[in-house]
Amino acid sequence: MKKNSPVSRSGRFAGGPAADVAQFTESISFDWRLWRHDILGSMAHAQMLQKIGVLTRKELRAIVRGLDAIGKEIRAGKFKWNPALEDVHMNIEAELTRRVPAGAKLHTARSRNDQVALDIRLWLRDEIRSLLAEIADLQRSLVLLGERNVDVLIPGYTHMQRAQPVYFAHHFLAYVEMFERDCDRLWDCHSRVNVCPLGSGAIAGSTLPLKRELVARLLGFVDASGRPQLTQNSMDAVSDRDFAVEFCAAAALLAVHISRLSEDLILWAGAEFNFIKIAEAYTTGSSLMPQKKNPDVAELARGKTGRVVGNLVALLTLLKGLPMTYNRDLQEDKERLFDTVDTVRITTRLMGAMLRNVKVNRSACEQAVNDPVLLATDLADYLVRKGMPFRRAHHVVGAIVALAEKNGKPLNRLSLAELQSVHKTFGRDALGVFNLKSAMAKRNIIGAPGTKEVVRQLARWRKQLS
Ligand code: ARG
Repeated sequence: MKKNSPVSRSGRFAGGPAADVAQFTESISFDWRLWRHDILGSMAHAQMLQKIGVLTRKELRAIVRGLDAIGKEIRAGKFKWNPALEDVHMNIEAELTRRVPAGAKLHTARSRNDQVALDIRLWLRDEIRSLLAEIADLQRSLVLLGERNVDVLIPGYTHMQRAQPVYFAHHFLAYVEMFERDCDRLWDCHSRVNVCPLGSGAIAGSTLPLKRELVARLLGFVDASGRPQLTQNSMDAVSDRDFAVEFCAAAALLAVHISRLSEDLILWAGAEFNFIKIAEAYTTGSSLMPQKKNPDVAELARGKTGRVVGNLVALLTLLKGLPMTYNRDLQEDKERLFDTVDTVRITTRLMGAMLRNVKVNRSACEQAVNDPVLLATDLADYLVRKGMPFRRAHHVVGAIVALAEKNGKPLNRLSLAELQSVHKTFGRDALGVFNLKSAMAKRNIIGAPGTKEVVRQLARWRKQLS
């Protein structure tokens, strides 16, 4: 074997690649983080090779021990990665073989093409599971904020204009619903990540009698009932990155949800709304204006959504023109995937932590929600109860709002005579609709911000998330 030449070139090539080519093609600078899963995959593959007689028991033991020692060194930061060996797979295998001669048998019936597909799947599977836990934490923060402020009302907005009163908790729970859908999507994606590609070789499997099901079981590629999950087409298996795209798509939507929540928090924290106060630990100062406390965490959470969406587009673009099967282009999947995972994980975590450090400013909320115009629809419903068609009632109440504006009075201060000057149907009880408390008690259908319904929803989520 020639010196200074990666194992992948040892036989066919007269020498190593040009220096800038090596730099251009290496992936060790970023794929080193797959080391743990690469080692796990190699251990399972070695176990299988022993079962089919390619490795002796002794060789297997030596390989497992060698891989274990390498793993410990990597974890301790003592392992020296060699860029000339291109990637994490060759670095670990070369070092193993240097220490354990039988290491040279490890790559039997395996290619980096199925190996890298395996490693990413194993790695992403773990990442999805831990992201799901982070999302649940974020949901719990929202539920807690709702519970702590269970009686606080704010105006709900459409078109950024005050629309109708809602419990603040109802607004928080809207995000809990969004995040739950994100979890569903991630779980669904998980089922397609959790399929074992090993045994696909470079493109066409192997002539050796590999026990693919054994490897799949060893690595936990099983469905809910314990059946091993195997890729069914070797060509698809080495070139498929759909699972990565699916993850990035689910993550992009998660990021969009976090971004919308950030926008709400930023608005509420401003003096114009003043609905919340974000604890100092989650704000930053201005280098020029001494009075400032800026919601930078929320702003960065919103801003980082751009790169998460960008990563999805980059992956789709990467795949769109690829002929079958593996092409080196696919090496470009990793940084996009890594960046997506890192970005959504930290953003989800910080958003949850920040929400646990948000104080609701009750008096500002109360002041904002006490605008009687928010209950104009309730006044229309009053007329509907008296038998008026809704379209008509809408028109009549519109005229009442205009009258109040003209007379310079709040809607709930109009006299009965003024109301009746617009329509006779109004009775003494009409102004009763402006009692906020009873207005909220009336909204008790499923999904509405009624007093009882919001408490019920909070309890439902509390139970579901415990
Ligand atoms: N580092 C490569 C990647 O990330 C591993 C696969 C290389 N395979 C090959 N035939 N050159 O995709």
